[in-house]
Amino acid sequence: MSASSVYADINLAALRHNLSVVRRHAPGCRVMAVVKSNGYGHGALELACALAPGVDALAVARIEEALALRAAGLHVPLVVLEGPVGEEDLHRSGQAQLQLTIHHESQLRLLSSYRGASIDCWLKCDTGMHRLGFAPDAVASAWAALTDMPSVRAVGLMTHLACADDRANPMTAYQVERMQVVSLGIAAQRSIANSAGILAWPETHMDWVRPGLMLYGASPLLGRSASDLGLRAVMSLHARLIAINVVPAGETVGYGATWAAPEQMPLGVVGIGYGDGYPRQIGPEARVVLRGRRVPVVGRVSMDMITVDLRGVAAEVGDSVLLWGDELPVDEVAAWSGTIPYTLLCGVTERVERRYRD
Ligand SMILES: Cc1ncc(COP(=O)(O)O)c(C=O)c1O
Repeated sequence: MSASSVYADINLAALRHNLSVVRRHAPGCRVMAVVKSNGYGHGALELACALAPGVDALAVARIEEALALRAAGLHVPLVVLEGPVGEEDLHRSGQAQLQLTIHHESQLRLLSSYRGASIDCWLKCDTGMHRLGFAPDAVASAWAALTDMPSVRAVGLMTHLACADDRANPMTAYQVERMQVVSLGIAAQRSIANSAGILAWPETHMDWVRPGLMLYGASPLLGRSASDLGLRAVMSLHARLIAINVVPAGETVGYGATWAAPEQMPLGVVGIGYGDGYPRQIGPEARVVLRGRRVPVVGRVSMDMITVDLRGVAAEVGDSVLLWGDELPVDEVAAWSGTIPYTLLCGVTERVERRYRD
């Protein structure tokens, strides 16, 4: 069976549906759709093209990601969330009309001697995440410095939420309050909300929202499923059953011989593994969908294969197997493997063909 029998079906209609959920929750807000890390593994260019007509801007982490989208002919406003690192980044950004996030003094110094094509900048404020951004008491002077620069247009103030996935966590209210205080007297558009903010914290909506995960149809909230939230899976990951073997009772399966057959039983081998992005640290609850039924994954995940318990399923070699997607939320697979849906989606490797449909 060739590697192309492993593919990620990407449903662009579901993507647009999820965007409509963003709009419904944050009416009147502008939308900056986040397509960094190869569009959360879905394919940055294809997703950007599908989203562009319905959003106000797209955001990526790095300048190279934005330049690749520009080079492919995308004209929508593009925001670089990590901003510039060196002088060259400023010239490339000016030429490509990228918007830059400015989060550090060193970037202000770079910009102060820049004299190229005008660049729109977002100032990032650190309201509690303590990753990127100016401390609240440094924001006013950083904003004033930006607005004084000849080749810069200061457009907005941005901050990022640390704990918005958890409705019970007081951090979000604290961050919103800090943002409100720092932006007093600054005539800027404001942006706080990621997906969790959009869905669970209306007070974070402000002028611009920045959805990522929810656009792809996974849940950003603890204890809430994607379908609960009205979201539809964009990616469905498929592979094929490449062998069916009968294992005698008591024989072990796979690397490390970690699982033993409780009785003589049919065992399916599915042609997908961690080399495709299927998580290796899968727990005993892990399931795949075969012929409409949930089937247990047994034994260790190998690079190119997993093994499944076929008792009670009349399967045949060549059958299609769903690893996650419509009928098996990626959120569940993430929980079974002790991770988050972000890592699974971003982790789908290059050898997995993406098939786009509308
Ligand atoms: C600055 C910033 N804004 C927005 C997002 C989108 O977050 P989410 O995917 O949780 O919606 C991210 C993602 O990490 C981000 O780094």
